[in-house]
Amino acid sequence: MDIQKVGVVGAGTMGNGIAHVFARAGYSVILCDVEQKYLDRALDTIGKNLEREVAKTKIMADDKAAALKRIQPVTDRARLAECDFVVEAATEKFEIKAEIFRDLDRLTRPEIILASNTSSISITKLAAQTKRPEKVIGMHFFNPVPVMKLVEVIRGLATSQETYDTVRDLSVKLDKTPVEVNDAPGFVSNRVLMPLLNEAMYAVMESVATPEAVDEVFKLGMAHPMGPLTLADFIGLDVCLDIMRVLHTGLGDPKYRPCPLLVKMVDAGWLGRKSGRGFYRY
Ligand code: 3HC
Repeated sequence: MDIQKVGVVGAGTMGNGIAHVFARAGYSVILCDVEQKYLDRALDTIGKNLEREVAKTKIMADDKAAALKRIQPVTDRARLAECDFVVEAATEKFEIKAEIFRDLDRLTRPEIILASNTSSISITKLAAQTKRPEKVIGMHFFNPVPVMKLVEVIRGLATSQETYDTVRDLSVKLDKTPVEVNDAPGFVSNRVLMPLLNEAMYAVMESVATPEAVDEVFKLGMAHPMGPLTLADFIGLDVCLDIMRVLHTGLGDPKYRPCPLLVKMVDAGWLGRKSGRGFYRY
């Protein structure tokens, strides 16, 4: 199928990055969120991030203007009926995503692929919300989406080879590198990354070291671009907690227990960079 118009559900950090890379690659994008203020903020962010790329001469000023023009912000989900492909990037809660998938199944043409940018939730379970489980797949991008090369492409139990091939090729057209994985809690990326971040939080909670010291260890000792606590703040502590809970419940092993300090910080509304306070102040 010829994909020209792409729907993106959710205009948060990941959704706006996904809209950015599709628009930059020449696709028309319908960016959908529940309130206009989220769309306004997303377009502002996309404009600033495209401007960075102009400043670095990765794209021309005209490319920026053209990419922005290709993005239509909408609050009416029914507009996604026009799309040839939809990727969902809503809040990392199963019930929210399940409702969206039921709605997308009703609204879009039956041959359309429905992808989820979920960072840990079962693709097989999301697919089961629809009458087209063979056309449901995980397309997991990484933050900051315009920069990170990886797309983790996740096959649900029923995902067809044709759906997989389409999403793999689409990822390449976005100038990304697809990596194939099977459906399991946290897939590969977050099954391995989140326990590292969680353990770094335990080290802080147990006064083994300060957040600054933990981060220095990983930056200087392991050549990580960001230390684990800076990265957790960057991802969002609420997102980290949601993923740890999916790992803990889904894999049933106590080694995935969310660090109590993480739980407490999320309860306090300290969500990292986006709320102005996490392990660091912003
Ligand atoms: N949009 C466009 N370009 C951007 C950008 C954005 N949002 N953010 C940074 N850039 C560009 C910069 O312009 C710069 O370009 P250049 O290489 O041509 O000079 C380049 O990216 C590097 O940026 P900076 O020089 O400003 O800053 P740094 O060198 O400190 O890099 C970083 C910033 C790329 C974020 C780097 O610190 C990094 O790679 N951090 C780790 C990020 C990471 O691990 N992400 C994965 C998180 S896990 C995830 O997303 C999965 C989810 O499920 C939880």
